[in-house]
Amino acid sequence: MSNNFSHNDMGAAMSLVWGQGTDLNFVELGVFDGRSSTGILQSIGSRIKTFHAVDPWLPYVDEISTMGRGDEDNVFEMNEFDMELHEIIARHVYTQFDNVEIHKETALEFLSKQEDESLDVVFHDSHITIEQQSEEFDAILPKLKTGGLYVVHDVDIDEVADVCVEKEGQLGKEGFFWQDCWMYIK
Ligand SMILES: C[S@@+](CC[C@H](N)C(=O)[O-])C[C@H]1O[C@@H](n2cnc3c(N)ncnc32)[C@H](O)[C@@H]1O
Repeated sequence: MSNNFSHNDMGAAMSLVWGQGTDLNFVELGVFDGRSSTGILQSIGSRIKTFHAVDPWLPYVDEISTMGRGDEDNVFEMNEFDMELHEIIARHVYTQFDNVEIHKETALEFLSKQEDESLDVVFHDSHITIEQQSEEFDAILPKLKTGGLYVVHDVDIDEVADVCVEKEGQLGKEGFFWQDCWMYIK
């Protein structure tokens, strides 16, 4: 398998993952049908010891993606059938890889079971409301290793970026924006 940094929503953050070393404890929160996971695993999977794929695969209304559309009448939502299908696709996709652990639960449920300072990389793509983004942000940071990489997707939406900037002020250390991700090295 080539290390070609193939397309996924982590985008430019992939080169920073490379810098995190090997035997990585990697988490993607909100995997949907596993399309970004596939790009990540095909390109840098050899550096990942365990890839934690976290998603409850339940119907949802995505307020953040709806904001991104700039048309509040054009609501982004997934019904039960959609989510069953995406779960089936994701589970099928993951059979290609031997380092994936699937967690059918919410981000907060998953995070509550992790040891502090245990995660090397967290790709945060589960937020469907700003309140959820904020709550998960606070839950992720203690679980990340010092020196670990935290990537928040969808910061091209101002409200999502604002949460990162506000939290950054409290963390006392700067992250940075790159394409539609905000990145932070703890
Ligand atoms: C934008 S999609 C993720 C896209 C995926 N990361 C990719 O790049 O292909 C958001 C996902 O978050 C999931 N989700 C919603 N609420 C969640 C929660 N509380 N915890 C974890 N995942 C959640 C949804 O089921 C959905 O699959």
